[in-house]
Amino acid sequence: MQTLIRGRVLGFHADPAETTTSYAWHEDGAILIEDGRIVAVGDHADLARAGVAEIDHRPCLVMPGFIDPHIHFPQVQVIASWGAQLLDWLTTYTFPEEARFADPDHAARMAEAFLDQLIAHGTTTACAFGSVHPGSVDALFAAAAARDMALIAGKVMMDRNAIPAVQDSARQSYDDSKALIGRWQGSGRLRYAITPRFAITSTPEQLAAAGALAAEHPDLHIQTHLSENRDEIDYTLRLYPQARDYLDIYDAHGLLGPNSLMGHAIHLSPREIARMAETGTRAIHCPTSNLFLGSGLFDEAGLRAAGVVSGVATDVGGGTSYSMLQTLNESYKVLQLRGQNLHPLAAFHWATRGNAIALGMQDRIGTLAPGSDADLVVLDCRATPAMALRAERIGTLAEELFLLQIMGDDRAVVQTYVAGRPAKASPAAAG
Ligand code: GUN
Ligand code: ZN
Repeated sequence: MQTLIRGRVLGFHADPAETTTSYAWHEDGAILIEDGRIVAVGDHADLARAGVAEIDHRPCLVMPGFIDPHIHFPQVQVIASWGAQLLDWLTTYTFPEEARFADPDHAARMAEAFLDQLIAHGTTTACAFGSVHPGSVDALFAAAAARDMALIAGKVMMDRNAIPAVQDSARQSYDDSKALIGRWQGSGRLRYAITPRFAITSTPEQLAAAGALAAEHPDLHIQTHLSENRDEIDYTLRLYPQARDYLDIYDAHGLLGPNSLMGHAIHLSPREIARMAETGTRAIHCPTSNLFLGSGLFDEAGLRAAGVVSGVATDVGGGTSYSMLQTLNESYKVLQLRGQNLHPLAAFHWATRGNAIALGMQDRIGTLAPGSDADLVVLDCRATPAMALRAERIGTLAEELFLLQIMGDDRAVVQTYVAGRPAKASPAAAG
């Protein structure tokens, strides 16, 4: 059965930072969808047909759903924890909370709540860290499969420098990851990510186990953290005295490449940046987290100039919002402090097609190209009284996008389509 989604339709086919013809815009547009896929995009007048069900979202914007390439599923009850920077924050709040995910009932309840939050905020794909317990990832994948969401996730591998309740061993982490890969990789829209938490919580033996998994499964994503905080870097280099720098640790264990996602990547040396570019390793900018934990300011322009591909992500629960709009808001401010300006067209490209490219999934998600998955977000720039007041004085698409970027959150998300189906509960139904 076909459905026509009508609205003011926006989709990117190139990076606005690189070309002036980066997007397609249909003021009275429509997206024809069938079996969870996009069939055609264009002017409504060209696509309307008798007998095809139509959902009219005018005057809202319709665009590809947001992609969040770095988020921690077991931190839904860590978000907004006071007064610490990274290493204290992990030991004081995060590890004890993640320990609770040993309980399958807790994991199952949190998985539903987590996906509800993603969808409420217009995020249709996430790349998520689980807890150390494989059951946490089973719960998340099962919940995502029931919603037909394109989700990437992995259990964290961590065998030292944490409370015993969230530690595994090199062998156990290999075996558990391998079993999860067997159960979930490629099932429906699900993908597995090999997930060594970071060098501080992995022995060299465990990073070698992660590297072995990566060699055995070269198509899988690898996700970890890199150079987020100065104390973290000092501690890391003390644990790996033979390494040239932080990145070199992951390099030495076969963990770099175009499928590798390095959360934060803030305090990098020129050698590390050059090596990331050379290997195609991705940098994932997490602005709300970097401000909240006082970690530092990401250098988007510097990495771009060096040829490193970047994504932009929430990093909940170090991050402070599930909203990619609020994430772009904080990114704008981080880059201001760097003397860089994040243009709204570049920002919305980044959260959609840009993040799809960071994940190597742009053939399936992040654009409105016919044949790709019908994951969409519908945005209302007049969602709150303050936004509606400001909207009286906007005249261009870029101004509308910037208003959404700076003042928008889940209230601006009117609907989220996952594989062609409306998935966001109305505020009344959500209670
Ligand atoms: N580094 C290692 N683990 C984490 C985490 O859970 N959050 C953040 N922000 N950084 C990390
Ligand atoms: Zn993180």
